[in-house]
Formats: sequence, structure tokens, C-alpha cells
Amino acid sequence: MKLVVLANREPIRRVGERYEVALGGLAAALYPAIRARGGVWVAWGPGGLDERIALSRLVVRRVPISERRVAGYYQGYANQALWPLFHLFLKHFRVKRGWWRDYRVVNAAFAEAALEEGGRDALYWVHDYHLSLAPALLREAGARCIGVFWHIPWPPREVLAVLPEAEALVRGLLGADLIGFHTPDYVERFLEAARAWLGARVTEDGVWVGRRFVRVAAFPIGVDVAGLEAARSRVADRAAAIRAAYPGRRILVGADRLDYTKGIPERIRGYRRFLEKYPEWAERVVFLQLTAPSREAVPAYRGLKSQLLRLARATERRYPEAFVHRYAVLSRDELLAHFAAAEFALVTPLRDGMNLVAMEYALVSEGLPLLSRFAGAARYLKGALLVNPYDPEGLADALAEALTLSETERKARRAELLASVKGLDVGNWAEGFLEALSG
Ligand code: G6P
Repeated sequence: MKLVVLANREPIRRVGERYEVALGGLAAALYPAIRARGGVWVAWGPGGLDERIALSRLVVRRVPISERRVAGYYQGYANQALWPLFHLFLKHFRVKRGWWRDYRVVNAAFAEAALEEGGRDALYWVHDYHLSLAPALLREAGARCIGVFWHIPWPPREVLAVLPEAEALVRGLLGADLIGFHTPDYVERFLEAARAWLGARVTEDGVWVGRRFVRVAAFPIGVDVAGLEAARSRVADRAAAIRAAYPGRRILVGADRLDYTKGIPERIRGYRRFLEKYPEWAERVVFLQLTAPSREAVPAYRGLKSQLLRLARATERRYPEAFVHRYAVLSRDELLAHFAAAEFALVTPLRDGMNLVAMEYALVSEGLPLLSRFAGAARYLKGALLVNPYDPEGLADALAEALTLSETERKARRAELLASVKGLDVGNWAEGFLEALSG
């Protein structure tokens, strides 16, 4: 069966005159499955560019969306209504007339382009919160095999109720045959939403929509295990150079998109508390926080950016040897080299659907992540040091404990961590989902 993926971001990058598959994020997740079967990836494309690009077994079909519509559907509905609400940040939730209409129009454009590529018989795989209406639109048009993967958390019922279009959203997703989430908690909450909003008959593993059964299940995503293991030797020299730049200091790393869900200011405050409470460490550690720009057209992100840059500068002034903030887009290998150089990673989102940084870090380094309890990954990564990112005192204590772990415990935790990360390989994830969908 031909595979047609619908996902907001395109998986390619331009290198000179050519395009290449960009193997980060979702592209890394799906490319193994696409390489095996051949397939089409339908994505948002800025107008005026090529609409159809063929790369070995992958075809990228771009849906041209005007800037005005992008402002409504992406910066507006997706990133000021759905993203904050589903991550439980009600204070950032906004509704504005016109956003929902743009979101609907874009979902319809995606579904139409996908159907042109795949017809009724393709296997459709829809991704994430940008495209929740596409499954029902595909089904109405006659598609018969539709899967959805929801990459962000699914919120509790009272929170979902804040969204004026909650019912339409749930109905849109239930156009699929199979809906995947990262954790059983999200599955349970989605089932509850289907019961509450549609009065649907719900079982433990799905929803009856008339005579059609929609399976709903947890498919925890992972990372490209072999690719990351192979990266270790490639980045070893650069990692050694990073270590050499901070002689006598044990290195901690953090790496995130600049997003309020990631808890970066909270993390820096926790680290400052640690240096105050355990001053003996101030000469012996350095924390490198790497922050990548993100969604800069959205007001809440601009506010966070100035707040974070101020806090980071003040912290660098206060602890010039023990804290470094880099606000930049780093190359993949530069990022992995920082992971490899660090003895601990601070992966402390306030809320995260899953979180792949902790897994990438585990595979390229010898260290342990301090991982937020509020990341989906906390459920799966045994051996990680779990923390509450809202509690600076707790974070400070957890850091002090981490730095004094016995070698036996560190090794035992590393072994558990590696076993769990290896068990979540992304190629297997994609194949497992597609098998459940088409099998
Ligand atoms: C999250 C979302 C993805 C999204 C990514 C980057 O991980 O679940 O769908 O692609 O953030 O955000 P952006 O808005 O730049 O695509």
C-alpha cells in the first residue's frame, strides 16, 4: 500500500541547488518507514516554491499556504490555542475570530493534496495537532486506511472544555482507524473526551463511531538508536575540545527550543539555587544551556525570549565560570558533541508529550539525564533521575545528589537507561504503528 504522510513541517532542506532529507525531528522518525515502502510526505510549503519534489523513494508534496493563512492556522490556532491548552498553559491560551476558519481551510487543503497523491487506497498517516481535522476529511472523501499520531499531551477533560471547538477536534480525529499517543494516560484522557463530547461508546482500547471501531493506543516514540550510536565516534574530538574548554569543571548541559513548556528559566533558577546552597560546587561545575529560536512570530514566545535572555545574562554575570547560555541554531553534530561532553543533562520541561533530548543524550554520552516527571519520557526511561521542574529547591538537591552518585549506582542507572532507550527505537515505532494500522 502506498504511504502518504501528512505533517506540518517538510522533511527536506536545500543544499545548494538540491534538496536533501533533513534527518532530525519527525523526518528521522518516519524516514525509515518511507525508505522501506516509498511514500509521499504532504507538508506546508511557503508559496512560490516547487510543489512536488522527488528524492529517491520519498516525494515531498508541498501545500502552498499564504502568509495570512499561516498567521491564522499556525501562529494562531495551532500555537496560541492548541499548543498552550494541551500543555496546560491556560495563561497563554488565546482565541481569535478567523483562526479556526484558517485552520479548517488548511486542513482541507492538506487532505485534498494527500488524496491527489494517494487516492482512496493509500495508507494515510496524519501527524500532530496542526492537522486534527484531516482524518475525518480523508474519510469523507473515501479513504479507507487512516492513522493519526498525536505528538503532544492530551489534556484532562476540564481543560479540553476551554476549547470552543473541542467537539469538532475530537470528531476530526475519530475519522481515523487508529489513533496513537505516547502514553496510556493520554489514551485514557482521549477516550474520556470521546465519551464526554460525543456520547460515544468507548472501550478500553477504542471508540465506536456508529458501526466503525477506532482503535486508540499508546505507541511511545523513540530515537534513531543506530544513527546516534554511530554519531559517538564522529563527535568525539569535538566533545573532547568542549571538555578542554572548561578544565577542572564537570559539565551539565541543557538543550531546547525556546518554548515556555520547556521550563528553561525555571531550570536556570534551580541551578542558581544549587550554586547558592552548595557553594562548594561553584568552582567545579559548568552548566551549558543551548537554546534554539522558535515560533518568534507568536507573542508569548517573544515575551519569553526577552525574559530568558535577561535571566541568562544576569546569571552569566553572577557566575561567569559556571554558566554559559548560547542562543543559536546549532548543527546536529555540534549539539550531539555537547551532549557527549556533558556528565549530566538537565531535561526539565514543565510539560512535554514525550521528549527525545533525554534519549539522544543517553545514547551519545556516558551520562545521566535529570528528567522532569512531567515529560512523557519519564514513564519509560528507567535509570533517569526524576525531578519536579517547578521546585528550585528540589532541583538544587537533585543536582547535588547527582554529582555525588556512587560509581556503582551510576553504572546501574546507565544500564537501565540504555536498555530502555534502545527498546524505543524510532524505526520500530514507525513500523509498529503502520503494522497495527494496516495489519
Ligand atoms: C513539537 C511539535 C512538532 C513541531 C515541533 C517544532 O515537537 O509536536 O509538531 O514540529 O514542536 O515546532 P515548529 O512549530 O517549529 O514546527
